[in-house]
Amino acid sequence: MDRDRPIGVFDSGVGGLSILRALRAELPREDFVYFSDAGHAPYGEKGEAFVSGRSLAIAVDLLEQHRIKGLVVACNTATAAAVHLLRAKHTQLPVVGVEPALKPAAALSKTGRVGVLATRGTLSSAKFHALLTSLRDEADFVLVPCDGLAAAIESGDEAEIRELCRRYTVEICCFGSGPGEIDTLVLGCTHYPFAAEIFQELLGPSIRLVETGEPVARQTRRLLQAQGLLNPQGGGRVEWRTTGRPEALQAAASRWLGLHGAAGDPPAHRLPLAAACTAAAPAL
Ligand code: DGL
Repeated sequence: MDRDRPIGVFDSGVGGLSILRALRAELPREDFVYFSDAGHAPYGEKGEAFVSGRSLAIAVDLLEQHRIKGLVVACNTATAAAVHLLRAKHTQLPVVGVEPALKPAAALSKTGRVGVLATRGTLSSAKFHALLTSLRDEADFVLVPCDGLAAAIESGDEAEIRELCRRYTVEICCFGSGPGEIDTLVLGCTHYPFAAEIFQELLGPSIRLVETGEPVARQTRRLLQAQGLLNPQGGGRVEWRTTGRPEALQAAASRWLGLHGAAGDPPAHRLPLAAACTAAAPAL
């Protein structure tokens, strides 16, 4: 396989940008294609068959349209539903998934009690249950499915995001550094890091928030390196595809990654983002 090819990254929407941010920091010379499936978001409340169908179709699209050399499933819900299917179908393609960072959180927690916020799909999956069972002796995990939160982050509805963060942190009860209290919170959906400031404000500075971007980026580097696929001379470009509104993806990329195509950016980032987006992908 050609090391000059881009790495594909996909999510149900803008959440995977939190993973892309870490990937670009770890692998600054690599080119990426980011696929936002916003036309079918949110995944978290749609069921496993739907999400695995979307994931398989997106992988084929990225392979056919962009000849990707590796795939990062930048979505906990899609990883739980489909990473095994993607690996079985595309045996030559390095595939990296994301899962809620329970193990690092258990290691960080001093009280031994860890909160986990994720989508309903992730928390009800067999993959997540296997992870939870494997860490049974390392901490107590308190799980709360956050219906609606990814959708609110996707639409950028600040009032709704704040209200849902408040509701779910109250539900997860009780935070603190005393015995039996939760001192560490896992953001188990790639959308939630974009609400991290609100969570931190609600919970106070002593509660640690744990996300997965950096370990996923390191794992991507390891996997590509092992197959001789790292590109030390790429341009660090990002191409954009979406089944939703290109302007929404453009606004999120600009806000969270500083990729806004303004004059003065490095040339590789001076992309006409809206034009590069596929407004609709009927075949998918
Ligand atoms: N960002 C995704 C995740 O990590 C999916 C959120 C959703 O579409 O419900 O699970």
